[in-house]
Amino acid sequence: MRKKIVAGNWKMNKTRSEAAELIKGIVDGVSKTGVLNDEHIVIAPPFPFLEIAVSLTEKVPYISVAAQNCYSEPKGAFTGEISASMIASMGARYVIIGHSERRAYFNEDDLFLSKKVSAALQCNLIPILCCGETLPERKNENQYRIVQKQLENGLFMLNQDEIKNTVIAYEPVWAIGTGVNATPAQAQKMHAFIRQLLVKKYDAAVADEYTILYGGSCNAENARELFANPDVDGGLIGGASLKASDFTAIVNSF
Ligand code: PGA
Repeated sequence: MRKKIVAGNWKMNKTRSEAAELIKGIVDGVSKTGVLNDEHIVIAPPFPFLEIAVSLTEKVPYISVAAQNCYSEPKGAFTGEISASMIASMGARYVIIGHSERRAYFNEDDLFLSKKVSAALQCNLIPILCCGETLPERKNENQYRIVQKQLENGLFMLNQDEIKNTVIAYEPVWAIGTGVNATPAQAQKMHAFIRQLLVKKYDAAVADEYTILYGGSCNAENARELFANPDVDGGLIGGASLKASDFTAIVNSF
């Protein structure tokens, strides 16, 4: 069964007490409305709040915790960096890799990201690899070429067994934080394209089971329409994951 996921990427927001309040609000909200077992909720707070996120969600089997980034090396003299094994040792299950903000502001390229993906898998973390084109790239009709290159170089070095433990998030850069989401048709077309790449590189069974998330101005108003597409298996939510009621409403759009 293809796993459906709604993941909240908090980015660099919240203090410790605000983080605790938000997590409690999400736990309360989703337990009130009831979530089916095959629906999965992932919350990605900043590193310092991973431990409290894990402890506050311990009793909720359908909520997992993610880090927003990890370093490519397992340990050593890399001041300020956080390894995948550290994240795993906190009890997190996922790690977001290659978010467009990391690519743009921290110059992370596909080769570097492929090393992070491998580092995450070695520690049994599920990498959520982000891909997506900028506005000029879409205007020039280069979006498919760009996404294909990002996936081929950042993810498709994995073998058949490894790829099954990863997730792709398609996040058009022009949709992130802008209030302009991809239309359901645009999202579906790209997700179907990505699934075809998985068929070609791996096989139809892998592609069919694979979870592909949409991200970029996804909110309680548009989530239902976006998630209704056959190849959109959930969302990676930024702004709308910072308020428990908004995030819960998106979870309930499934
Ligand atoms: P947004 O961000 O929902 O605020 O557009 C999505 C993301 O960056 O993951």
